[in-house]
Order: sequence, then C-alpha cells, then structure tokens
Amino acid sequence: MERRTIGAGALEVGAVGLGCMPMSWAYSGSRQRGDESVRAVHGALDAGSTLLDTADMYGPFTNELLVGRVLKERRADAFVSTKVGLLVGEQHIVANGRPGYVKRACDASLRRLQTDVIDLYQLHREDPEVPVEETWGAMAELVQAGKVRALGLCAVGARGGRRSGGGLHDATIGLLKRVQQVFPVSAVEAELSVWSPEALESLLPWCEARGIGFLAAMPLGNGFLTGTLTPGEGFEPDDLRARHPRFTAEMMAANQPIVVGLRRLAARHGAEVTPAQVALAWILAQGRHVIPVPGTKHERWATQNAAAAALRLTPADLAEVAGLPGARGSWD
Ligand SMILES: NC(=O)c1ccc[n+]([C@@H]2O[C@H](COP(=O)([O-])OP(=O)(O)OC[C@H]3O[C@@H](n4cnc5c(N)ncnc54)[C@H](OP(=O)(O)O)[C@@H]3O)[C@@H](O)[C@H]2O)c1
Repeated sequence: MERRTIGAGALEVGAVGLGCMPMSWAYSGSRQRGDESVRAVHGALDAGSTLLDTADMYGPFTNELLVGRVLKERRADAFVSTKVGLLVGEQHIVANGRPGYVKRACDASLRRLQTDVIDLYQLHREDPEVPVEETWGAMAELVQAGKVRALGLCAVGARGGRRSGGGLHDATIGLLKRVQQVFPVSAVEAELSVWSPEALESLLPWCEARGIGFLAAMPLGNGFLTGTLTPGEGFEPDDLRARHPRFTAEMMAANQPIVVGLRRLAARHGAEVTPAQVALAWILAQGRHVIPVPGTKHERWATQNAAAAALRLTPADLAEVAGLPGARGSWD
C-alpha cells in the first residue's frame, strides 16, 4: 500500500488507516464482536494499513484492550493512535484535561494496548475548565518521557465556529495555534467525507501548509456512503445513527442521489469496485497529508477499504463528485 507521512515527514503510515471505534462503541452490536473485530484488525494490517485509530473512551476501555490483543503479537506492523480527555459517566461524557489525569490515563492506555509507546496521542476534546496549554504541556511531557511519539488534536465535534457565523473549523484553528506554541501538532482528526466536506474549506489547507497530517474520521458517512444501508431500516437505541439527523428514513431517502453517484463512478472503475472505495479514494485525492480511517469490525470490509488506496480517481471523476447534491439533514 502507498505510504504517507505526517508530522512534517517524521511519521510514516499506510495511506488508508483503520478506525476501531465500531468494534466497541457507537454502533449497535459492537460489544459482541470481539473475535471478528480482531480478525478485521489483522486483515487491515495484512493489506498494508498501519494506522489503528482507537481511544480510551471507546467501550469505555474495551476498544484499547481489543487493539492491544493484536499489538501484543505484531506491534511492528502497526502505528497506534489513541486519545485522552473524555470520560464516560453514568449519564454524560465529560472532559478532563487536568495534567495529572492525562499522565495517569496515558499509563493506563499503554497497559491496555500492551505496548510501551503510543505513536500518536490525541487530545479528544478540550476541557473548558483547564487552559488547553496546560493539558498540551502534560502531553508534551509524555513525549519527552518516551511514552508517546507525537501529539494530535481531535476536532470531530467542532460546531462552535458555524454557530457563531464563521467557518466550521475556525475554533479548531484557534485551538491549534495555541497548542502549537507549546509543542508541535503532528496530526489533526476531523470529519471529512463526500457528504461532509467542510474541512476542505480551511482546516485541511491549514494542516497541509504546516506538514500536519489529517486523519479523516467518519470517511464513509457512518456507513451511508457504502450504499449498504436501506432508508427506514432503523437503528438500535445504542447506535449513534438512531439520533443522527441524516439517518431518519426521510433524510436517507433524500440523500440517495449521493450513493447513486458513487455507485456510478465505482462501476466505471470496474465491477469489483465499491461505492465505499470511491468515497475513500475521493478523500485520498484531497492531499498527500490525508489519511482516511474507515471504521469496521468486518475483516472483509477492512480489506476492501484498504484496497481503496490503489484506486485513482481522474480529474473528471473528482469533478463529478463535486457536482453531487449536498447532503440533506444536519446537526447545525
Ligand atoms: N475523534 C473522534 O471524536 C471520532 C469520532 C468519530 C469517529 N472517529 C474515528 O473515525 C473512525 C471512522 O468513523 P466511523 O467508524 O464512526 O464511521 P465510518 O468509517 O464513516 O463508517 C463506519 C460504518 O461503515 C460500515 N462499513 C465500513 N466499511 C464498509 C464497507 N466497505 N462496506 C459496507 N459498510 C462498511 C461499518 O460497519 P461495521 O462496523 O458493521 O463493520 C460502520 O457501520 C472511527 O472508527 C474512529 O476511529 C473519531
């Protein structure tokens, strides 16, 4: 698989990563699929993916344990990215960016992952009660202690900029400028997909200009862009799509033209090519610093997604994607 470098060229990863979240969190049925999920991680590594994206809060904790089962056997094949800063409570998820907590959480992640170093340690969310410079300073000390190789910032839930009338990621860029004063940012993780292209406006170019890698979260539109979901099929209450405005039967039907467009492009590239692969190839075409992290717990899909690294979309294909209708249904 093609390799890409992030963090001013210091870190090398396979062009398509693997999002491990659906193996333990946010999708119904996640918790009962441990062995299948482990096979999916092996399948992705076998296909040349290296970046495994997890977080201590996925599960909580069980996703890191699962990834650790694989790392124990083949640490050298993987580039592990995990996250700190969110705690799952009985009712709510709360942020904790206190330096002492960050250091304890890192040690706990290392134990669960069965490794002595985390390749990319990401701040999952800013703690509004702790200056981000203090949190980031503690994370930088973890790099100096040799427990972490590089630092990243997640901006998946960023919506403040849009609400205040600015670009979606104005607040993210403000945060990045502040933490950059303390210690270099090697990667940013934010939503990017054919139906959520907002990061292209400013965040993606901002990262590219500074040699910062961009991890594209939810690159398959939480499964919608794969064309395997049927409008109105319904989701279990513990599935994030049960509350997602784009996953009502009405919005899934309204957004079908996007899937139809991806399917048309896939067919043009060969009978074996899938809409999911076109959606990933579109992300890969947005810059050499971009690494999609499609999530799955199925080996077959992990392998299929990894193979998207070899699919090259032409300028005409990219123009056709740009011409697809914008997504209906929004969190804003
Ligand atoms: N930092 C954050 O706050 C944050 C937030 C969200 C996501 N993320 C990261 O981004 C990663 C990806 O996001 P995501 O997993 O939520 O969304 P996604 O990658 O857009 O979509 C995942 C869904 O697509 C399905 N799928 C995957 N490949 C498929 C294929 N080839 N054909 C058909 N269906 C396929 C999966 O099904 P199965 O699961 O049944 O295999 C799953 O339901 C996560 O794993 C996580 O690492 C980070």
